[in-house]
Amino acid sequence: PDLLLLNGPNLGMLGVRQPEIYGTNTLADIEKEVAAVVAERGWNVVSVQREGEGELIHALQDHYDSVGAIVNPGALMIAGWSLRDALAAYPRPWIEVHLSNVWAREPFRHESVISPLASGVIAGMGMLGYRLAAQALTSIVPR
Ligand code: DQA
Repeated sequence: PDLLLLNGPNLGMLGVRQPEIYGTNTLADIEKEVAAVVAERGWNVVSVQREGEGELIHALQDHYDSVGAIVNPGALMIAGWSLRDALAAYPRPWIEVHLSNVWAREPFRHESVISPLASGVIAGMGMLGYRLAAQALTSIVPR
């Protein structure tokens, strides 16, 4: 079984992208953390990072048979309506993660169009947020 780790625009630059906001961990570090957590359930992590909304939608559609997903939409949280529709059709539990505490930042980051569909939202915990989301999914997804 595959767990989908879906990261949106600019998240492939983690480690060098505004480390004072997003930390120094890379996406590869995050993938390792998540994989370590979900190995307990025998899940494999499929990690996809794309800059474009359409590419993210394709990736999601390709993995509608995954056991669950962790989604950091990046700035698509603000107006990613077609990503939202694709997530609405995703039949499994998924958790929205933001490295930074978006509510402590600029007002345009305060509302996410995808949050109402998520099983849960974790923000402001840096890389730990992905680990927590992975742990949550190992509990939420029925055995
Ligand atoms: C982010 C927060 C978004 O507002 C921003 O556009 C990002 C990263 C985060 O992980 O904190 O690209 O999703």
